[in-house]
Amino acid sequence: MDGELRCGGVRAADLAERFGTPLYVYDIRRIEDRIQAFQKAFAGIDHLLAYSVKANGNLSILRRLAALGCGADITSAGELYRARKAGIPAEHIVFAGVGKTEPEMVYALREGIYAFNVESAGELERLDAVASRLGLRARFAVRVNPDVLSPTPHEYTATGHAATKFGVPLEDAAELYRWAARRRNLEARGVDVHIGSQIVDPEPYLTALEAVLRLVSVLRTEGVPLSYLDLGGGYGISYDAGPELNVEALAQAVVPRVREAGLSLVVEPGRSVVGDAGILLTRVEYVKRAGKTFVIVDGGMSDLIRPSHYGGYHAVERVDTRIPRRTEAVDVVGPLCETGDFLARDRPLDVPEAGELLAVRTVGAYGFSMASNYNARRRPAECMVDGDRVTLVRRRETLDDLVRGEENLDGAGVSEAGEDR
Ligand SMILES: Cc1ncc(COP(=O)(O)O)c(C=O)c1O
Repeated sequence: MDGELRCGGVRAADLAERFGTPLYVYDIRRIEDRIQAFQKAFAGIDHLLAYSVKANGNLSILRRLAALGCGADITSAGELYRARKAGIPAEHIVFAGVGKTEPEMVYALREGIYAFNVESAGELERLDAVASRLGLRARFAVRVNPDVLSPTPHEYTATGHAATKFGVPLEDAAELYRWAARRRNLEARGVDVHIGSQIVDPEPYLTALEAVLRLVSVLRTEGVPLSYLDLGGGYGISYDAGPELNVEALAQAVVPRVREAGLSLVVEPGRSVVGDAGILLTRVEYVKRAGKTFVIVDGGMSDLIRPSHYGGYHAVERVDTRIPRRTEAVDVVGPLCETGDFLARDRPLDVPEAGELLAVRTVGAYGFSMASNYNARRRPAECMVDGDRVTLVRRRETLDDLVRGEENLDGAGVSEAGEDR
């Protein structure tokens, strides 16, 4: 606007000054707008917006989503703990993942979650055994793998085709429901499908939907009544001015089909809720010219791994553009000891000077949630902007945080196998 980047109503430079860098900044109003857009798009059907916690599990964000009536899609005991702590009702939580452990099942059953999204026959058998032992009934959906290869930017983000570990092959799913129908502690409640992430074309969703609806009607004729269909998440956003998924158009195609089938709907958006509401502020430490120009910043792959893990693209820009600089193709790299430690490669950028701030865009999803302590780096702080109000929503880790759990272990009160909820 005036040559200085703002987040909500706040100067980005002020946030960096106050909280240090690298720093995640989330615009909560943007997140709330996205939720309202989803709610409006799916208003024509009884639906549950189960926000996918893996995208960004910050408690303050989850609390705001809970207040808007969101449920949660979780993938671990830790995400269940976060969701419940944030006030998301257990009966609005669905639990996906191919490797659910017994303690995770016990925890989720005791909480009374809406449904387990079951990903194999072995998991269903284990769920039955655990529920029987507890004298509880486990509500579940089978996560069907419809063998739809949806175009995603990287092979690691496609999950709905036969070569991935996810879900139960469509042709095997009915048998699992038949088996469960004979078990007292299992209650088939719905059917689930999730075909991948960062999908911008509605077509693969519609192909998967039709496959799943055919399964629902076969099961109905056999007396297995299902009440909901879970379409998963994966709704693509724009990282580079490219197309994003038109959620409204998708809803217009999906809602009548699901309603006709007499089902309610669950959707599990993650990235499309939080992705473009986040930026990462990082400060330039050095500009090194060694054949190539390297802009070395204080944030790296331990803070944001998407570029090196998936080839994820994030726009990078100077926070203060009032002083013009010469544009060059540069690599924006972090301080970690890995060649793969980069945030952008061969990117035209107005070459900053040491000490300047850069903003890495569209990092609200799979940014902090994939951050690590590699190279014994302290994970960054996160703050939230609400108009011109600013809140620190996670403090920067300290050196003591890094060694917590490695010292004074005698009589620590936690079983050697870890914490059991
Ligand atoms: C089962 C399931 N649901 C929802 C999501 C959320 O996907 P996205 O963040 O792309 O919307 C994922 C992501 O991996 C997932 O595995």
